[in-house]
This record gives sequence, C-alpha cells and structure tokens, in this order.
Amino acid sequence: MAGRIVLFGATGYTGRLTAEAMAARGLRPVLAARNVERLRQMGDELGGLEIAVADVARPDSVRALVERGDVLVTTVGPFARHGDPAAEAAVAAGAHYLDSTGEPAFIRRVFEEYGPRAESAGCGMVTAFGYDWVPGNLAGALALEEAGDEATRVAVGYFITGEASGGTSGGTAASAAGALVEPVFAWRDGAIRTERGAKRIASFDVDGRRRQGISTGASEHFALPRLHPSLREVDVYLGWFGPLSRAMQAMSAGTSVATLVPGVKSGIDAVTSRVVRGSTGGPDAAARARRGSYVVAVACGADGHRLAEVRVAGVDGYDFTGRILAWGAERSAAAGMRGSGALGPVEAFGLEELEGGCREAGIERV
Ligand SMILES: NC(=O)c1ccc[n+]([C@@H]2O[C@H](COP(=O)([O-])OP(=O)(O)OC[C@H]3O[C@@H](n4cnc5c(N)ncnc54)[C@H](OP(=O)(O)O)[C@@H]3O)[C@@H](O)[C@H]2O)c1
Repeated sequence: MAGRIVLFGATGYTGRLTAEAMAARGLRPVLAARNVERLRQMGDELGGLEIAVADVARPDSVRALVERGDVLVTTVGPFARHGDPAAEAAVAAGAHYLDSTGEPAFIRRVFEEYGPRAESAGCGMVTAFGYDWVPGNLAGALALEEAGDEATRVAVGYFITGEASGGTSGGTAASAAGALVEPVFAWRDGAIRTERGAKRIASFDVDGRRRQGISTGASEHFALPRLHPSLREVDVYLGWFGPLSRAMQAMSAGTSVATLVPGVKSGIDAVTSRVVRGSTGGPDAAARARRGSYVVAVACGADGHRLAEVRVAGVDGYDFTGRILAWGAERSAAAGMRGSGALGPVEAFGLEELEGGCREAGIERV
C-alpha cells in the first residue's frame, strides 16, 4: 500500500505552490501547518484534503505527523532555525523525507548527522529537493556520465533568465540572509572542506553570454562524488548577482571575519531576523512566468580540459520547486526511494527517472 504524503509548511508561499502541484498530480496530501483556520480553508479549496496542526515550537506535534512508510515533505524554513523537528520526526518514524531548503549548513547537517540515523531507520532523506539544488545535480550527473572516468572536476552554475526583478519570497530572503553569515563548504581533494561563501568567482556561457557566479555550498558537493568516486573537486556557483558578484565576494569576506569575533555573529543574526521576517509571500504567477532558470554543468579532466558540458533550462525556480517536490513525493509514496540514509536526487530516484521528473516540473536539457 502506498504511504501517506504529509506536506508540512503547506500554508507558506512554497508550501502552497507544492500543495497545488500535488493536487494537480491527483495526489491527496495531508496538509500540515501551525494555523488551523488557514489549513481548513486550503484543504477545502483543494478538494477536501485532510489537515493536521503542527508547530516546530512543539516538536511532539511534528513527530505525530508521520509513521513508517509515509513521506514527509517540509517547506518550513529558514531551516537553520526551524528545520530540525521535521528531520527528527522522519528519522524517528522511519518515514521518507524531502525538503525545500537551499541552506548549505542545513544540507550539511542532513548528510552528516541525520543521514546515518536515517540509514539505521531504513528511510531515505533527500534534502534541497527544489530549484536549489536539483537541476545542478541533474546537469552534473549527465555531464559526468558523458565525461566518463577521466573526469575529476565538475563545476555547476545557476542563472536566472528573463526578468529577474520579480522578487524572491520572504522565506528565501530569510534563508539567504541567514546563509550569508555562515561558512559554507566545497568538495576538495576528495573530501568536504569548510570555506567561506563567495570565496571563488567563475564565469559560464549562458545562452551565448559570459555570466559570473559566486561559490556556495549545495547538495551537489555531497551527492555527485557518490555517483562518481573519482571526483576530486566539486564547485557550485550562484549567478543571481551578475556584475555585483565581486561586491558580494567582498561582503562575504567581511561577514566571515565578523563571524569569528564573539558577539558579532549574533548581532548580524538579530539584524537579519528583524529585517527579514519571512512568510511575506513571493512573486505571483505573472512575475514567475516572466523569468526562467538556466543551469550549466562542466566536467573536466585532471589537467583542466573540458570533457563534457550539459545545460538544463526552463521555468522559474519557485514553480519548479513546487512541482518537483510533488513529483518526488508521488514516487516516494508509490515505490519508496532507491536506498536509505541521506541521498542525492539521482541516488534516490535514478538518473533517467530524475530527468523525466525535472522535465515534468518544467526544466529540461537544452
Ligand atoms: N530550494 C529552493 O529552491 C527553494 C525554493 C523556495 C523556497 N525555499 C525555501 O523554503 C522555505 C520556505 O520558503 P517560503 O518561500 O515558502 O517561505 P514562507 O512563506 O515564509 O514559509 C515558511 C513556512 O514555515 C512555516 N513556519 C514558520 N514558523 C513555524 C513554526 N513555528 N511551526 C510551523 N511552521 C512554521 C510558516 O508557517 P505559516 O504559514 O503559519 O507562517 C510557513 O509555512 C525557505 O527556507 C526557503 O528558503 C527553497
């Protein structure tokens, strides 16, 4: 029998997009969040869905959401602040788990801390199963498959096409503000190494134009070396900042130094959590339709020569996130995941299947 799908954070901006994408696939998720009135209204709108009240401030209420064999999808963020109760609940119950985080520190925690516990519990956990960082896992895995054993390095760049000015959700802004003051990581000499965000800048050919990105931590760093054990270096670059990349690099150097001084980091945290409130909605459908995604992966050999390059492109990141979470939840509920513990997107579902899922969610190879 297929497990239940529980969507935690359903009343948030990304949660709502995910619930709608699930309903569009004919799924009947249990909608979970902290506000019972908004849940009732949403459950009615989407065809009379079951609802459940849970609050991360009461971890038992989150724990009660799932049982073994269920699939827990969570969009409750920022994950550094609110993410642990859902991850704990999945591991405790032995439920499969998918989340929408893009935050490097939380991704690392899922792979390093929750992963071994999920393996013992016999459930799969796929963190960052949204626009951050599924398309790069797909493009990277396709490039590495083409490049073969000679490949020792892969670099992935994420870019926005069309009108980038449509804004981000309050949730993304809150998570990004949090991530800027944390150290990130890269895959170097066959291991995860801590480093500051925006330490490196690289440029990629995006639709015939050179565009810059700044380095960050992502799930590719953990997931791609498992598929391709000869990898020595994995880098992921965010290209949202365009010509501001150098300024971002300088700012990140400043915040990294600041975070080493006692008291300064908590000051920055206090300011970002005051300025960035979260739950402020996000771009509407018209704004999302005016922009798109473009992700490039380049696989190289030890001497730096290019062996393969793969590009995937398509819809706006929020639309993609809702739809790919719905796709992943449906597959996990019907057939489980292809392993247990913390898994990369390709490990969890298979390369061909993930490519099909991304196509259904609006991003495909170009
Ligand atoms: N990977 C990607 O590409 C991607 C894409 C989109 C979003 N995200 C991430 O997903 C997260 C959500 O983003 P968003 O845009 O949907 O932000 P949002 O609208 O602010 O949603 C945050 C959600 O967390 C819930 N929440 C906050 N405190 C809670 C608590 N104490 N107990 C239970 N729930 C609580 C909110 O509940 P209420 O509805 O009751 O306020 C809301 O549902 C963020 O971390 C964002 O960075 C990532």
